[in-house]
Amino acid sequence: MKVAVVGATGLVGTVMLRVLAERNFPITELIPVASAKSVGKEIEYKGKRFPIVSMETAIEMRPDIALFSAGGNTSLENAPKFKAVGTTVIDNSSAWRMDPQVPLVVPEVNANILTSADKIIANPNCSTIQMVVALKPLHDRYGIKRVVVSTYQSVTGTGVKAVNQMMNERSGITDGEMAYAYPIDLNVIPHIDVFTENGYTKEEMKMIKETKKIMGDDQIRLTATTVRIPVMGGHSESVNIEFKEDFDLTEVRSILENTPGIIVVDDVANLKYPMPKDAHEKDEVFVGRIRRDESLDNTLNMWIVADNLRKGAATNAVQIAEYIAANNLV
Ligand SMILES: NC(=O)c1ccc[n+]([C@@H]2O[C@H](COP(=O)([O-])OP(=O)(O)OC[C@H]3O[C@@H](n4cnc5c(N)ncnc54)[C@H](OP(=O)(O)O)[C@@H]3O)[C@@H](O)[C@H]2O)c1
Repeated sequence: MKVAVVGATGLVGTVMLRVLAERNFPITELIPVASAKSVGKEIEYKGKRFPIVSMETAIEMRPDIALFSAGGNTSLENAPKFKAVGTTVIDNSSAWRMDPQVPLVVPEVNANILTSADKIIANPNCSTIQMVVALKPLHDRYGIKRVVVSTYQSVTGTGVKAVNQMMNERSGITDGEMAYAYPIDLNVIPHIDVFTENGYTKEEMKMIKETKKIMGDDQIRLTATTVRIPVMGGHSESVNIEFKEDFDLTEVRSILENTPGIIVVDDVANLKYPMPKDAHEKDEVFVGRIRRDESLDNTLNMWIVADNLRKGAATNAVQIAEYIAANNLV
């Protein structure tokens, strides 16, 4: 397949190239795309060098698939142009996610909705992806009424600029570029993306709306507080879930253990629980601290961790590409 990687020099794009290589995605021609300032530079893929081309050149080359991670505006402007030449776009930005015509896909949950008519497919928000992988099998068994989630999100979720800000602060550089309104090192910032009129942030509203769309259930009630912490390996989430039916904790563990894409790390006697440092560079979603909420009937607490650049972005997008390729939907 002819595959364009749009945003090939970015944090997500770089991981995208690594994941495509690791999973041996059947690429006959690779087309790396970035902004004007990077055109002409080269990236490396499977030991070979490839020149970065402009968006216009990439569209002229009519790729079969374009994996986009170059920001919402770039995607809004250019995804339709790729679609017009017959390319299937898998987009990592938030630009298309809530468009009723665009499927929002986490392969473990809802890849079955994809058809060959889908030329723009949205990859959900990183925090939503890791959460729904763990929620779906429990929703199927016990029915979810309400979810309360608080996130502890890695600076890698903001891109190269935020990693630079944290590392500059850590090494005492005070006049570096700022990705956040405040210092992030030795700090916690309860603010991800912009604030909306209801006092929630856009990141929080994405988790609420995207979960309902992916799970195909508007009745699930969800509230979120999303928080940036000075960490790099992945996002962590404290999730409280109220079910319609009561559950058995042993069965909950067994359902999660038997769900593809999930690794249960839950042995507190031996101090085993998921942490971003262990999830880093892994494709799975890690679940631990599984316990009953003793303050409310039919309610469970758990802790979910995943590498936001992998399952939260690149791996999920490549899994979608694998699914459409395997099912001849391109
Ligand atoms: N980081 C995450 O965890 C995460 C997770 C899910 C989704 N996303 C989404 O993925 C996207 C990229 O995130 P990131 O963290 O990889 O950001 P990043 O590190 O800042 O990289 C941005 C990439 O986009 C390219 N780009 C910017 N403007 C462009 C244009 N006009 N035309 C072509 N390429 C352009 C940049 O190229 P240059 O190097 O030439 O500037 C770079 O390759 C964002 O939409 C973000 O919301 C990120």
